[in-house]
Amino acid sequence: MNNKFYITTPIYYVNDRPHIGHVYTTTIADILARYHRLLDEDVFFLTGTDEHAAKVVDSAKEHNVTPIEWANRNAQAFQDTFKKLGIESSDFVRTTEERHKSKVQEYVGQLMKSGDVYPGEYEGWYDAGQEEYIPDKKAEEYGLKSPINGKPLVRKKEKNYFFKLSKYQGKLLKLLEERTEFDVQPDARRNETVNRIKEGLNDVPISRSGESGWGIPVPGDPQQTIYVWIDALFNYLSIVDTPQRQKYWPADVHLIAKDILWFHAVIWPAMLLALGKPLPRVVYSHSFWIAEGQKMSKSLGNFVDLEKIDHYVSTYGLDALRWFLATQGPMGVTDSDFAEAQFIDVYNRDLANDFGNLLNRVSGLIGKYFNGIVPNPEDMKIEDPQTHEGFLTRFFDEKEDREGERHFTDRVKLPINRLEINVFLDSVIHYVGYVNKYIEDQSPWKMKKAGDTAGVARVLYYAAEALRLAAVILQPVMPNKTEIVLDVLGATGSGTTWGELKPGTKLKEHGPLFPRFDADGKPSATKAK
Ligand code: MSP
Repeated sequence: MNNKFYITTPIYYVNDRPHIGHVYTTTIADILARYHRLLDEDVFFLTGTDEHAAKVVDSAKEHNVTPIEWANRNAQAFQDTFKKLGIESSDFVRTTEERHKSKVQEYVGQLMKSGDVYPGEYEGWYDAGQEEYIPDKKAEEYGLKSPINGKPLVRKKEKNYFFKLSKYQGKLLKLLEERTEFDVQPDARRNETVNRIKEGLNDVPISRSGESGWGIPVPGDPQQTIYVWIDALFNYLSIVDTPQRQKYWPADVHLIAKDILWFHAVIWPAMLLALGKPLPRVVYSHSFWIAEGQKMSKSLGNFVDLEKIDHYVSTYGLDALRWFLATQGPMGVTDSDFAEAQFIDVYNRDLANDFGNLLNRVSGLIGKYFNGIVPNPEDMKIEDPQTHEGFLTRFFDEKEDREGERHFTDRVKLPINRLEINVFLDSVIHYVGYVNKYIEDQSPWKMKKAGDTAGVARVLYYAAEALRLAAVILQPVMPNKTEIVLDVLGATGSGTTWGELKPGTKLKEHGPLFPRFDADGKPSATKAK
């Protein structure tokens, strides 16, 4: 086992049902977790639900159930959705669980003792929907309305406990300049964070007054409830703060979107500094999906919701959805459009014409010329990188290991560690396209006519082996379809060394991997060529 790798998603509010935004972040985290497992690392992947928001109490009332019943119902919806979408998290945290609540009290208690949390009074503009205070200057910019749901902000004054955020301004700036212990990515998001810290940090309230009976009480002061955001952030630590799981802290990646950057890039590291705990290595803040060219919003009712997600999965398949999310998603600083026409284009181009087509060609040609039995190339090792064949191995062979074996681990490690998932997958699909072109250029059908059987064997073995490696490398993104490809090739494991495909293997029968679709989302009458 190599290093440990701990990745988290935000924990989602339980007053809403899951939609494509939640599914996106969690799917990317799942893909990254699977890549790290493929690299034989000790992976811990955490997702879950954030349940102590006041709006849960309101929604529960509207539906005539208790808050915990409401939370149970929606937490279940998140769990069911993630399961259906092939998400394999190591744990699922619910902030109403005792294991979390007791730890939060412990952390807040420790901060009260050290003086980093102190009692005081706060007055400011409050966004009830988001459960957050908006700084006066920003509130005015927003016209005293919530930038998220447009409802008026309320002027609120309350007695509560404060966290000495101001004390950590210099330290945070220094950490973000050095970027060795803690970083915020992409760069533009780090710059944003740095600029905001430079404007000056005020102490922030971390509790609400009034006994709502919902939320975690401040230790020693049951009139006060720990502010839901503080409660929520602690999940990343509380769930691994056990003797068996301690080894996972600090988190390697907190994957979030730009809407919650402030809490993750400023408040959270400052609290960890106050607790004397190591900081997460990277807070990675992606951008947003919009839908069919428009911002997704409650009032437009255009969320890519569970029903729409189900439609995509049942029509195009789960792996196609995962591929689309991973390659077209907003990992950078610009938003991405979730549009069906684009989905179909990407599906046909990458999956039907490239990946699916390669399987068809390999199994079709091996079927035709070798009765479906993987041929034996005269030479398994390709020495000349300048040749077509050279490319096939070179894609995976950055370095030879001590035994002189060639692996693709370095090819995967670098971009995956940098979270450059779309760039990386783009290069893999280009490689798949290249293998198709290689078959075309070499034209084994012409070799056959010319009586060059050894040539046909070589080209088809290389193409089949290149397909196997592509399937191995794509497993984290498309676990189901790649399993089919590997099964057809009689390759069960995840071997990453060139030449592992066994000549003499009988290929299994298979249907089309990714049948083509017309622009209107109906299966094409014509088969993939
Ligand atoms: N409960 C807080 C997070 C606490 S984390 C300690 C919260 N929950 S949320 O349900 O609103 O989820 C926000 C997250 O959902 C975003 O940061 C992002 O990961 C995901 N997305 C929500 N809408 C999104 C899009 N339109 N596009 C992409 N991801 C988005 O905030």
